[in-house]
Amino acid sequence: MKIIEEIGQVKAEVQIARSKGRRIALVPTMGALHAGHVELIREARRRSDTVILSIFVNPTQFAPGEDFDSYPRTLETDIKACRAEGVDIIFTPIATELYPAGFSTIIDVGEIGRRLCGASRPGHFSGVATIVLKLLNITEPDLAIFGKKDFQQLSIIEQMVRDLNKGVEVVGVETVRELDGLAMSSRNSYLNEAERSCASALPRALGAASELFNSGVRDSSSVVAAARKVLDAESLIDVEYIKICEVRSLEELETIDKKAVLALAVKLPGARLIDNVELY
Ligand code: PAJ
Repeated sequence: MKIIEEIGQVKAEVQIARSKGRRIALVPTMGALHAGHVELIREARRRSDTVILSIFVNPTQFAPGEDFDSYPRTLETDIKACRAEGVDIIFTPIATELYPAGFSTIIDVGEIGRRLCGASRPGHFSGVATIVLKLLNITEPDLAIFGKKDFQQLSIIEQMVRDLNKGVEVVGVETVRELDGLAMSSRNSYLNEAERSCASALPRALGAASELFNSGVRDSSSVVAAARKVLDAESLIDVEYIKICEVRSLEELETIDKKAVLALAVKLPGARLIDNVELY
């Protein structure tokens, strides 16, 4: 396994892999790897010959006052996890090489980036799209792997890849969860014991909504209300949004008559959490 910081060096490695006819997969991450990331690596392993995992806490997707400085950085344990999972290259770019003085281009993905989390995190998805496009341009993979846990991020990357003719296959991987159903996230470590215990209401809320949908209810407001009832019962949870959207455009649906996703974001004192469930 190679650990590479320089863009030129990773490009050279990619060229060598390509000349040998290898199929290349990219797994972009911000590190602090957990079982969710590991599942992405395994999917990459199954589908490709050379797995590149990038670790970069991307400053342009954090707003002032967000957790850029406190975001967990656990490079040593991340390296061990990558070695155990058979990653070929860890790419840990340096911020000043990715964003040198004078850098000014930003990808605007349009309306899809302003819905859901985009409403409370303006600019966030431009930051995500820009870094992902840069990583795709640097590594030129055949496929890029993302988690459905960040459903909006995945939809946005699919949109960008279509719109900009990137010709990379974007693969979405099911959300990996804790025993009580809470989606694994690097930010779960911000929760204290009481908050962590409350957070199990998120998967319960998604379960209540799916159950209603599976019983035949197609009216979005009723399905949303079922989820909201579970979350409102928790005093530490402040609901930011619960919405049902069409999976590709993330346009809100009044009636669930297309492939849909129920997405939610909540605030606890220690962390903002998101989760979602597909309805179809
Ligand atoms: P990060 O939060 O580190 O997540 C990296 C990838 O892991 C994303 O595709 C995310 O959806 C996936 N992931 C996180 N938790 C997961 C879980 N419980 N189950 C399955 N997959 C999970 O998302 C980012 O980093 C950044 O925005 C990035 C795309 C790297 C751009 O900076």
